[in-house]
Amino acid sequence: MDFEVRRGECFGFLGPNGAGKTTTMKMIYGAAIRTGGELTVAGLDVGREERAVKRRIGVVPQENNLDEDLKVKENLLVYGRYYDMPRKETLRRAEELLEFVELTEKADAEVEHLSGGMKRRLLIARALINDPEIVVLDEPTTGLDPQARHLVWERLRELTSEGKTLILTTHYMEEAAQLCDRLVVMEDGRIIAHGSPDELVREYVSPEVLELRAGKDALEKLLPLVEDHSDAVERAGEALLAYTSDAGLLQDRIRDSGVPVENTLHRRAGLEDVFMRLTGRRLID
Ligand SMILES: Nc1ncnc2c1ncn2[C@@H]1O[C@H](COP(=O)(O)OP(=O)(O)OP(=O)(O)O)[C@@H](O)[C@H]1O
Ligand SMILES: [Mg+2]
Repeated sequence: MDFEVRRGECFGFLGPNGAGKTTTMKMIYGAAIRTGGELTVAGLDVGREERAVKRRIGVVPQENNLDEDLKVKENLLVYGRYYDMPRKETLRRAEELLEFVELTEKADAEVEHLSGGMKRRLLIARALINDPEIVVLDEPTTGLDPQARHLVWERLRELTSEGKTLILTTHYMEEAAQLCDRLVVMEDGRIIAHGSPDELVREYVSPEVLELRAGKDALEKLLPLVEDHSDAVERAGEALLAYTSDAGLLQDRIRDSGVPVENTLHRRAGLEDVFMRLTGRRLID
């Protein structure tokens, strides 16, 4: 894989389970050793200048690695010590960051008593304790309720507007579309597509999608007709996704055919469709 993240942007990594996103993140923040290739972070060689890189980077790992023996605020203070920050400054930042992720009231709570979503927010606060210029976020909002997810999006936008660079993995296509300036799609350790969310939609799917839900037999009958009138067709369980620039015409043809369709949804194509087209086949086959 070959990629370059620009200063101040939010750069996303998408891809199915096992594609290699976390492995890539770990190489970036020095938790996985490369066996080859070149990797520089903030202009520094990750292998040779590990400590200097670590100072400039904040990490939200995919797996929660909070210290469960420590209270919420203490988890932040300990990190400040790792970075040799003055005690007073660490305390001030810890309080600011708890405010930032809306956990001030939990400052003295035991970590084990936090909900899953609160733990993720605490991980985000912890990643920011050293005021890093680059923040690596491996699925920062997995398991968050919609309110909490929107809060995190809000906060991540604030970070980019402060000039920080974000490197993000996510399985939420809306998150990628909302936050990422540019992104790559990975599969089997390779980058299979790259671009801005809009570019990817333009390149890999047509502007409109018709989602057709029907019984198995009806879907089989419809398939040739749908294929004739679409740029591409994906099968997703009980549904056919028809990518077309003229959904109206396709709808007419389906009606003429007399095949019963239970449910039809006509919508604009988005990143979810890009993901399905690029990586979906493997799951379906
Ligand atoms: N320590 C390890 N030793 C050997 N193989 C590993 C190790 N860690 C991960 N893998 C394998 O490397 C591949 C990529 O894993 P990785 O965790 O990077 O995927 P991912 O894209 O983050 O997936 P997910 O979306 O499920 O988090 C997988 O096939 C995984 O089984
Ligand atoms: Mg992962």
